[in-house]
Amino acid sequence: MRATSTEPQQLSSIAADVLAGLSATPKTLPPKLFYDAAGSELFEQITRLPEYYLTRRETSILRGQAKAMVMAAGLPANVIELGAGTAIKTRMILEALQAQRGRVNFYPVDVSEAALDAAKENLRGLPEVAVHPLFADYASSMDFVGEIPGPRLILYLGSSIGNFEPLHASLLLSHLRSMLGARDTLLLGTDMAKDASVLLTAYDDAAGVTAAFNRNVLVRINRELGANFEPESFAHVARWNEMASRIEMHLESGRAQEVEIRGLQMRVRFQRGETIHTENSYKFTPTMVESILRNGRFVRECTWMDSRQWFALHLARTSS
Ligand code: AVI
Repeated sequence: MRATSTEPQQLSSIAADVLAGLSATPKTLPPKLFYDAAGSELFEQITRLPEYYLTRRETSILRGQAKAMVMAAGLPANVIELGAGTAIKTRMILEALQAQRGRVNFYPVDVSEAALDAAKENLRGLPEVAVHPLFADYASSMDFVGEIPGPRLILYLGSSIGNFEPLHASLLLSHLRSMLGARDTLLLGTDMAKDASVLLTAYDDAAGVTAAFNRNVLVRINRELGANFEPESFAHVARWNEMASRIEMHLESGRAQEVEIRGLQMRVRFQRGETIHTENSYKFTPTMVESILRNGRFVRECTWMDSRQWFALHLARTSS
């Protein structure tokens, strides 16, 4: 593998990520690269798969507890959702807030304009809810949070926090915390640790949608960086890493091969069986939740779980 003349500081964000990740040993690609238009659509399909219990479990908690949640949050006037996607689940929170307090401002934040359009569409028919889509990458900057007046309820649903290393998750929360005041709250969704077979099936579904989602990152690199990956020559692999309490997704090369990425003037060699590590999805114990919140300078006030205790939503307040 060789990288020539192109300097990292001149590269687009995706180019810099691909250069760094495919130059590393072992090879990695950051999960944020999944979410181009096709990847966002594949993720929406994943949320409807029978094996992917996360969205259904979280939705069932929200359906039963949305009113209790907004009451516990102090009926805030402004709701900000990090990585809102199509905001389908959020409707339950907003309906409860509209019923309990009246006028609400909702700020869905996402890196996909298509998702933000869909969020607006999905929230039609809520007369007291004003939707203000924000096109932003919250993982890079939370400055937009500081521009929205309090009291604010921050929604961070779907266990998206689990796609960050615990240290990075705490830093992200701490950054968010620095934008918030004493009356603001955070509603955080976490997928809980459970039987490995349930987890492995959720990340390797029978219809192959998660495999297509994983390989889509190669399709994207082909299109955006002029690469010649053959996505089908990479197998989708989901592994349970018990020690780290996380599901890992990898793309495993089915043969020895060399791939050219013209936009980076680089060639990348793969051994047969060599993998690109594309995602971690941490599965939380209560201690892990306490720890990321504490390190991010939040205190957990209340937790709601589904009947099997597979998924949890935590309401947290800022601490000093
Ligand atoms: C977005 N995130 C919480 C999903 C997860 O479960 O970690 C992404 C995903 N990866 C494979 N399936 C879904």
